[in-house]
Amino acid sequence: MSHCRRSATRFLSLIALLAVAMFVIAACGGEEDNSYVEAQSDDTAPVTAIKGELSEAGLAGEKLFIANCSACHGNTASGTSLGPPLVHQIYEPGHHSNASFVIAVARGVRSHHWDFGNMPAVEGLTIDEIHQVICYVRELQLANDIIDEVPTSTPC
Ligand code: HEC
Repeated sequence: MSHCRRSATRFLSLIALLAVAMFVIAACGGEEDNSYVEAQSDDTAPVTAIKGELSEAGLAGEKLFIANCSACHGNTASGTSLGPPLVHQIYEPGHHSNASFVIAVARGVRSHHWDFGNMPAVEGLTIDEIHQVICYVRELQLANDIIDEVPTSTPC
């Protein structure tokens, strides 16, 4: 009888151990935290982007961005009700190269990713200034873990 009770206890503690182990695995083996990106792609709500260190070109680009782009894209390119966040996975260099930024500014953009409508061409920026703006956006993407390094096609 006592032998029987002992093995029952052993069996029960084994079950308890298994339950704990499964709980720990479920809690630790969770998915990557991409809530930042999800929050942005959800809707048009502006999400604050962190501003990291800016190069000289990035600092010049920040001023130009605020004067020419932030009315729609937000001061830190995190989006407004008029335009999408550029600090966003879909605007990383593999999807939208620096050249596509130049084209967007020069020719405007026909709405295709979002429901904000078209982006008009932005006049009055020299090519050097556009590259400074790109530096600002890429350095924001860097600070917010969208990219690991600023693409060398735009020297910042
Ligand atoms: C009047 C509002 C407005 C202004 C000002 C504006 N944008 Fe945009 N921009 C948009 C909208 C809206 C889209 C999204 C279009 C779509 O649905 O894909 C967009 C998309 C873009 C894209 C993505 C291009 C692509 O190929 O999909 C880039 C890059 C961009 N903007 C950069 C800029 C820069 C840089 C400036 C300032 C020099 C600027 N925008 C100013 C509204 C604006």
